[in-house]
Amino acid sequence: MKAIVVTDRAAGTAGMTLAERPEPDAAMLASLEGANYGDVVVEVHASGFTGNELEWPSTWIDRLGRDRTPSIPGHEVAGVVTALSYGATGLSVGQRVFGLTDWTRDGTMAEYVVVEARNLAPLPGDLDFTVGAGVAMTGLTAWQGLFEHGRLRAGESVLVHGAAGAVGSMATQLAREAGAYVIGTGRAAHRQTALDFGAQEFVDLENDSLEGVGVDLVFDVFGGDIGKRSAGVVRAGGTLVTVAGPPEARPADGLAVDFVVVSDRAHLGEIAQRVRDGRVRTNIGKVATLDDAVAAFNPTERIKGKTIIRVRP
Ligand SMILES: NC(=O)c1ccc[n+]([C@@H]2O[C@H](COP(=O)([O-])OP(=O)(O)OC[C@H]3O[C@@H](n4cnc5c(N)ncnc54)[C@H](OP(=O)(O)O)[C@@H]3O)[C@@H](O)[C@H]2O)c1
Repeated sequence: MKAIVVTDRAAGTAGMTLAERPEPDAAMLASLEGANYGDVVVEVHASGFTGNELEWPSTWIDRLGRDRTPSIPGHEVAGVVTALSYGATGLSVGQRVFGLTDWTRDGTMAEYVVVEARNLAPLPGDLDFTVGAGVAMTGLTAWQGLFEHGRLRAGESVLVHGAAGAVGSMATQLAREAGAYVIGTGRAAHRQTALDFGAQEFVDLENDSLEGVGVDLVFDVFGGDIGKRSAGVVRAGGTLVTVAGPPEARPADGLAVDFVVVSDRAHLGEIAQRVRDGRVRTNIGKVATLDDAVAAFNPTERIKGKTIIRVRP
């Protein structure tokens, strides 16, 4: 099968190449005699990639710490199930699905991928594969940050960093839809995009100060200096949730939580429902084919929103 592979950690996205890799199929699932317990093969229709994936250790080593190159990046998927292993429950062959794949195994920038069934949810027939791949990572990260780790409730206030970005725009929409008051942040040029996604106020991090802001929850995607300063805007009893690694500062009288998103069938279902009925929309900046994927991830100018690879027309 055709796939995008990476072998050189230092090369970044410039090291991506289009290659031929063995195609996983039902015979392969069966031949591994239980090693693939719970897995399914998905015919990939659309694939998504997170900007700094090539910096994640799991892109280069497996769970036992062994070199796993050449690795196939992209862990966001929408496609059709073509084979089930023993133990794969809740899905059937021919079913449209979407979700996230294991960080430590080959990903989705390929014609087929092997995924644990529990990491996938049904993709409703009226949602395009591009949309499914476009909301899996952003939707799950935003959902889990706001509601699982941040325990956000209607009437509370939340500061969403990077509100015009892929994760931030989803967090902004989901928080608004849940009845929260949303303050978005970003660069000066992002103000209108953040407001269009539903932020009621905007803090321009290049020119405005965070002083004077007080919120129940901060949803941080940056870490570093911005993350540190954000601890100070959390009200007593509030929470700083971050996806940028262990926080360097904690709210004086509140919690700091960092987390890595996990695929979750129930959460994917909640997200799909909201996309279907127009309560949230995707933030896709570019759609490219697998043949054009290397160029798409090495653009000459910055693409706003997610780049999605349409593996099948
Ligand atoms: N832990 C997890 O489970 C998890 C899950 C998903 C994502 N993440 C991480 O979350 C981060 C965001 O991901 P994403 O896909 O949403 O990225 P993204 O689409 O690039 O969004 C980031 C947004 O923040 C803006 N921005 C970046 N640096 C800024 C700065 N110094 N001041 C103001 N605005 C700034 C970006 O603008 P420009 O485009 O102009 O730079 C962009 O609008 C990534 O680091 C990703 O790895 C973690």
